[in-house]
Amino acid sequence: MKTTFIWDSTLATGFSEVDLQHKKLVSIIEDVRLALNSESKNYTLAISKALKSLMDYTEYHFSEEEALMKKHGYPSLDAHKKEHVAFISQVRELLSSINTQNREAGEKFYSFLGTWLFAHIARSDKAWAVYIEGKQK
Ligand SMILES: [Fe+2]
Ligand SMILES: [Fe+2]
Repeated sequence: MKTTFIWDSTLATGFSEVDLQHKKLVSIIEDVRLALNSESKNYTLAISKALKSLMDYTEYHFSEEEALMKKHGYPSLDAHKKEHVAFISQVRELLSSINTQNREAGEKFYSFLGTWLFAHIARSDKAWAVYIEGKQK
């Protein structure tokens, strides 16, 4: 499977720390793609490493972002948190379907990760960014 998800400036929120975290998430998703493509004998180790860093960093990023929204009194914080929670649980659900015998499920999993992240940044993260920026003027 080819690389599909590449960060570009259209995804910038204007909050440099958050943008760095998003770039890091994109690179972790790329690591997941590489792990999904790895040979069967390396697969289990590669996947478990990549998924651990995906889960750890996602949770770190979500909590940083939620703290920022809270600090600035973002009115849609709860709805935004729900999107984060739903993502984590969808990832957990899809995890059980991926293995070396099912490369197609791996592709779907990769595509879900990138599609979700890009759509979430473009719509939901930019919404809080615009709100906070507006307040600071
Ligand atoms: Fe978010
Ligand atoms: Fe985000």
